[in-house]
Amino acid sequence: MDSDSRVVIQGLQGQLADSLHKDFTNLFRKGYVRANGAVMPEYYQEFAQDIKSFQVRTDDVFVCSFPKTGTTWTQEMVWCIANDLDFEAAKVPLQVRFPFLDHTTLFDYEDLLSTRPDVVFPPHVLDSIGFLDNLPSPRYIKTHFPWSLLPTKQFQDEKPKLIYVARNPKDACVSYYHHSRLLEGYRGTFDEFCELFLGDSLCFAPFWKHVLEFWKRRDEPNFLFVKYEDMKNDLPSVIRKTAEFLGKNLSDAKVEILTEHLSFNSMKNNPAVNYEDVVEINRKYNLIDKEEIEKGAFMRKGSVGDYKGQMSKDMISRFDNWTETNLKGTGLSFNL
Ligand code: A3P
Repeated sequence: MDSDSRVVIQGLQGQLADSLHKDFTNLFRKGYVRANGAVMPEYYQEFAQDIKSFQVRTDDVFVCSFPKTGTTWTQEMVWCIANDLDFEAAKVPLQVRFPFLDHTTLFDYEDLLSTRPDVVFPPHVLDSIGFLDNLPSPRYIKTHFPWSLLPTKQFQDEKPKLIYVARNPKDACVSYYHHSRLLEGYRGTFDEFCELFLGDSLCFAPFWKHVLEFWKRRDEPNFLFVKYEDMKNDLPSVIRKTAEFLGKNLSDAKVEILTEHLSFNSMKNNPAVNYEDVVEINRKYNLIDKEEIEKGAFMRKGSVGDYKGQMSKDMISRFDNWTETNLKGTGLSFNL
């Protein structure tokens, strides 16, 4: 096996690992491991090689990201541009039009299904890899896997389009915390969550390695690197850049229409992009806080700088120092 295809699994040890296991395990996730250094659910191990040997096609379009950095927003932008703003077809749920490669590896439904044969999961949830294998081209694929767990050999051979979206870690952490608490049964405090984030001990971490592995490839012709903050600041420009990357010509009028379709309010009210099936699964099996969960939980605040109302001054400065250390000399910055 060449080094590109190898996945080395190790246990997770130490205080942060204890905190992760205590506060962030549930019916569908019994524990965590490190896979090539990245934190993944134990269950992922069963699929590590399937992901590494996933059959990539030249006309695939991937949206890659660390969780809660604007993935859904970027997916909807990419899909609409690539499909000539076909808003009728865009009514199909995003997770069917733009499946999540990782899904099957993240949640172990075996216990539940063995006791509840009446429960039926949609195929893109139960077998996301097989679902994608059988999709006709062109495929649109979402993934949070870090570079080292992806089918990088096939990326090299097939050169699919790879779009990475990044967001400043303070807002990503706040967003990840709310997501984890509302949708994935996280039971710890916000401060404990920040410690897990800073300590590279949340699922898909380490954060900066995740971002920088894509950042360093940003100039390769099949790579596009976008920032959440740029989308907030000037969405039409990011739409134009993405259209050019996808080889599409968009008139000014179309850019305007798409900007409106992608606005926070419009996406908050769009059932196709709110992952209602995932919310429903969690609601059904009591993984979520029933008091707080409402339709549209995915589209929470959609702002830049939300961390200011949630993080202590001390925590902000720890995040800033951490960011500075990791971004030194990389040319990447988040100005806030
Ligand atoms: P918040 O929790 O800060 O509101 P992902 O899709 O990677 O899970 O990211 C989710 C984050 O992107 C959420 O952030 C969500 O509100 C934000 N988001 C989604 N669509 C958006 C839009 N149209 N405009 C701004 N933010 C958006």
